[in-house]
Amino acid sequence: MSITVLLGAQWGDEGKGRITDALAAQADVVARFNGGDNAGHSITVGARVVRLHQVPSGIFRAGCLNVIGNGVVLNPRNLLKEIAEIEAAGAQVTPECLRISQSAHVILPGHIALDAARETSGDSKIGTTQRGIGYAYMDKASRSGIRAGAMADPQRFADRVHQHIVAVNTILERDYNKPALDADALAAEYAAAAHRLAPFLANTTLVLHRALEQGKHVLAEGAQGVLLDIDHGTYPFVTSSNATIGGVCTGLGVPPRAIQRVIGVAKAFSTRVGGGPFVTELHGDLAMRLRGTGANPWDEYGSTTGRPRRVGWLDALALRYMVRLNGMDELALTKLDILSGLDTLRIAVAYTCQGIRIDDLPQDSDVLAECRPVYEDLPGWSEDVRSARAFADLPRNAQAYIARIEELVGAPVSIVSVGPERDQMIVR
Ligand code: IMO
Ligand code: MG
Repeated sequence: MSITVLLGAQWGDEGKGRITDALAAQADVVARFNGGDNAGHSITVGARVVRLHQVPSGIFRAGCLNVIGNGVVLNPRNLLKEIAEIEAAGAQVTPECLRISQSAHVILPGHIALDAARETSGDSKIGTTQRGIGYAYMDKASRSGIRAGAMADPQRFADRVHQHIVAVNTILERDYNKPALDADALAAEYAAAAHRLAPFLANTTLVLHRALEQGKHVLAEGAQGVLLDIDHGTYPFVTSSNATIGGVCTGLGVPPRAIQRVIGVAKAFSTRVGGGPFVTELHGDLAMRLRGTGANPWDEYGSTTGRPRRVGWLDALALRYMVRLNGMDELALTKLDILSGLDTLRIAVAYTCQGIRIDDLPQDSDVLAECRPVYEDLPGWSEDVRSARAFADLPRNAQAYIARIEELVGAPVSIVSVGPERDQMIVR
């Protein structure tokens, strides 16, 4: 039995899609265990970049089985759109290569409308992706949600969608002064979606157990990042699922001992979308330099929402905390090429809060918001690193930057991404 877990080690958008895509070459199964279409995993396929939101990143690898686990919240409408995009990019999406857990909860239009209403009403500063993620998980936790398995009977599913819309309409009109949704039209649309998605439904826990028993290699693909975890992230500025290691066991139904290797994906600097404390945040020219103009698909603009991402220096304190919490055996470091040409690079090695030095991540976001970074400065490099294929090909200062990160966070950097192309990667 062996599961390799890939987690975002920061606030999401670390380049997980790129690393999973590379690791999927050796995986028989790729499984998503948390989140929904708030995720945006970019994969380069030939000359195009495809953004996956719900379908696991193994979909472009022939013979790879892709599993959407029970811990995921599923948006049927957007899944159909995504399947069409994947097929346009040349991969077939059939029940042979994609299975959806019957126990995954469904995101319905009412969840999305409520998320959007709250985000735009001024009560919330979370800055969600407005995909209805929080409201779908709320219904799951309050035991009133609808599971994907209900799609096996499209007519009954439509009735339940209708009831959900009617109930949400009361709240939309009363609390937010928003127009009601068309329950009849949506019920009909979701019945049609259910009809198309029903063949993909499965007891994915059993599917995974069988695969593990047959000695197959499973890659568990995390969405979001560990700092957005509902329990261990910077609450309330988090998502509504467990993006940390425990989410793998609950979100797929696999035992912890089946997990053999945990890889954290970290960007060589930091980014965050939405609200919440960000100790190493940068503003001005340097921030623009790291963010990019938006002309390239890999520039720092949300792949789900298009929002410019907040950017900052690498936070080794937060990274070290998350390496420990998740038992990360190794790190994949992405976007090293973006740092080329900077004279000096800074890494936050500790914080100060009201004059006191802090070495561990505070759990209270209000405290975190008061923290200031203690930086260590390292010399930059001017060379283009995109053609490096071995660690020794990197400029000496780039090697030193990576070595210092390893020392500070307590995990080796086993993969370095040096550019957006599939082959622009160093595997040590
Ligand atoms: P991937 O998988 C970056 C952020 C949102 C917001 C907070 C809550 O691409 O790394 P939600 O819609 O989940 O209720 O929003 O979480 N967020 C992400 N940020 N990448 C993601 O996914 C994210 N998914 C959610 O910006 O701050
Ligand atoms: Mg994202």
